Amino acid sequence: MSGLFISFEGGEGSGKTTQTDLLVEHLEAETGRRVVRLHEPGGTPLGEYIRDWVKAQSAPLTLQAELLLFVASRAELVKRVIRPELEADSIVVADRYADSTTVYQGYARGLPLKDVRSANGIATGGVWPDVTFLLDVLPDASLRRAGLQMSFDAEGRVEPLPRADDTGKRRFEELSPGFHQKVRDGYLRLAKAEPERWVVVDGQQAVEEVHAQVWERVQGLLRSV
Ligand code: TYD
Repeated sequence: MSGLFISFEGGEGSGKTTQTDLLVEHLEAETGRRVVRLHEPGGTPLGEYIRDWVKAQSAPLTLQAELLLFVASRAELVKRVIRPELEADSIVVADRYADSTTVYQGYARGLPLKDVRSANGIATGGVWPDVTFLLDVLPDASLRRAGLQMSFDAEGRVEPLPRADDTGKRRFEELSPGFHQKVRDGYLRLAKAEPERWVVVDGQQAVEEVHAQVWERVQGLLRSV
C-alpha cells in the first residue's frame, strides 16, 4: 500500500480532534494529495449507526458486547475505507484507531488483552498506522479540558453534562480520575512497547506547538515515502 496512515490517540480532552483538523488542513494545503479524515467509531454507515446507538444507551452494555461493537465498526472501516484509500495513495488521518480499544477495553476496563488483540487483529487485518501520535495529558488536565468543552455550547451557553443513567455515571466517556489514569498508563505502555510507530507529544503545550511537533514528524514520513 502506498498511502500514508496517521492516527491520533489520547484520553478525553487531550486535543486529538483539534490536532486532527490542523493536520488535515496542513496536509491538504501542502501536499496536493487526497486526505481522508476519520473519527472512530464511525466513518461508514454501520460505524455511524454503532456510534449513535452506543451513545444513546441508558443501561451499560456488557464489556464484551462493547468490544465487539467497536471492532465491528473498525472492520467495516478498514475494509471499505482505509485499505482502498491507502491503495489509492491517499493520506488517512484517524482520530482514534485500534489502540483505543486496546487501552479502553483492555487496560482501562480490564478485558483480557489477548482477547482485545485478537478482536483487533480481525478488524484491522494487519492494517496499522505508519505513525501514531499520543497526545499525552495528565488526567486532571484532560478532565478539565473535556469538562470545559462539554459544558458550553457554540453560543457560550452552559450545557448540562450528558448523563446516561440514573446513577449519574456516564458510559461513553467515563469521568472518574482512576479510569483516566488507567487510560493514560495504558497508552504510555503501548508507546513504550512500539517506539518506532508511536510519538508521544506533551498535549499540555500550546496547540501550535503540538502541531509543530506533529508536522515535523509527518514531513519526515512524507519525504521517506
Ligand atoms: P468521542 O465522543 O468520540 O470522544 P473522543 O473525542 O474522546 O474520541 O467518544 C469516543 C469514546 O469511545 C471515548 O470515550 C473512547 C471510547 N472508545 C472506546 O472505548 N473504544 C474504542 O475502540 C474507541 C474507538 C473509542
